[in-house]
Amino acid sequence: MTRPVADAPIPLASALERIRAEVDALFDELLAVPPDPRARLYEAMRHAAMGGGKRLRPLLVVAACGLFHTDRRRALRVGTAVECIHVYSLIHDDLPAMDDDDLRRGKPTLHRAFDEATAILAGDSLHALAFEILADEATHEDPFVRAELVGELARAAGPAGMAGGQMMDLSAGATPLDLPAVTRLQQLKTGALIGFCLEAGGIMGRVPPEGRTRLRGYARDVGLAFQIADDLLDEEGEEAKTGKKVGKDREQGKETFVSLLGRERARRQAELLIAQSLEYLERYGPEADLLRAIARFAIERDH
Ligand code: IPE
Ligand code: IPE
Ligand code: MG
Ligand code: MG
Ligand code: MG
Repeated sequence: MTRPVADAPIPLASALERIRAEVDALFDELLAVPPDPRARLYEAMRHAAMGGGKRLRPLLVVAACGLFHTDRRRALRVGTAVECIHVYSLIHDDLPAMDDDDLRRGKPTLHRAFDEATAILAGDSLHALAFEILADEATHEDPFVRAELVGELARAAGPAGMAGGQMMDLSAGATPLDLPAVTRLQQLKTGALIGFCLEAGGIMGRVPPEGRTRLRGYARDVGLAFQIADDLLDEEGEEAKTGKKVGKDREQGKETFVSLLGRERARRQAELLIAQSLEYLERYGPEADLLRAIARFAIERDH
C-alpha cells in the first residue's frame, strides 16, 4: 500500500540540522586555510561549501547507508564527497558564462564575492576534493568499495550525468524541448547525483548491483520530483526563502516541467512521483523512514 504523502512519521528537521552541522564540521577540517598564496582559494571554497544549503544529498547518503547499518562517520564522508560535486556544480552554474547569478544560499555567488577566476578554481578544487575523500581509507577499508564509489560518482558527475544535463540545459532556452527531452535533461542534471546517493548506500552496504533496483527506482522518482519542485520554486518561490534569485527560468525562456505542464499539472506530477518513490520502499520497515521523510520534503519544501 502507498503511504499517504501527508503523514510525516519522523522529525526531518532535526535530521537536517544534524547533517548540516556534521558536513560543516568536516569541511572545516578538510579546508583549513594554509598560510601561503593559496589562502584565497581555500577561503573561496569555504565561502561556497560551508554554512548553507539544505545538505539533502549528504542526508540521502546517510539515510541510504542507514538501511545497511553502515558506520555514520563513513557515510558522512561519502555524503560530503557528493556535496563537493554539488557545490562545484552550483559555483559553475552561477558563472556569467552560465546562469550569471548574483545570489546563492542567501549570500553573494562566489564569482561576485571573489572573482571569476577564483570561482572557477574553487569549483575545480571541490571536484577534485570529492574523489580525494572517496579514495581515502577512512571512507572504507576495502579498496574495491572505494574504487566503485569513485567510478560511480565520476559517471554521475560527467557527461553521462550532471555535466551532460547542464549542457542540455544550456540549449533549453534556444531549441524548444518536449516533455521526454526535459525529463531526460532533468534526470541527468539533477537526477544523476541524487541517484549516486542511493547507489552509494548499496555500495557501502555491499549490496550487489542487482540488489539495488529499488533504491534506483526511489532515486529516479525523488530526483525528478525534486527538480520539479526547484522549477516550481523558481516560478512561485520567494528569494528570502530560497536564497537565490527567482523567475530566472521564465526570464531565460527555459523549457521546464512548469513551462510545459503548467504549475498545477507539474505539482500533481511531482506528487505522483513521490507516491511512486514510496512504493519502492515498501519492503523496508522503520529503517527506511528517513528516506520516506526526505521524499516528502523533496516536494513540500519552500527553499
Ligand atoms: C539546487 O539544488 C540545484 C538543483 C540541482 C536543483 P539544491 O536545492 O539542493 O541546493 P542547496 O544545496 O540546498 O543550496
Ligand atoms: C542547476 O540547475 C543544476 C546543477 C547541476 C548545478 P539550476 O540552474 O536550475 O539551479 P539553480 O536554480 O540555479 O539552483
Ligand atoms: Mg542552470
Ligand atoms: Mg542556475
Ligand atoms: Mg533552478
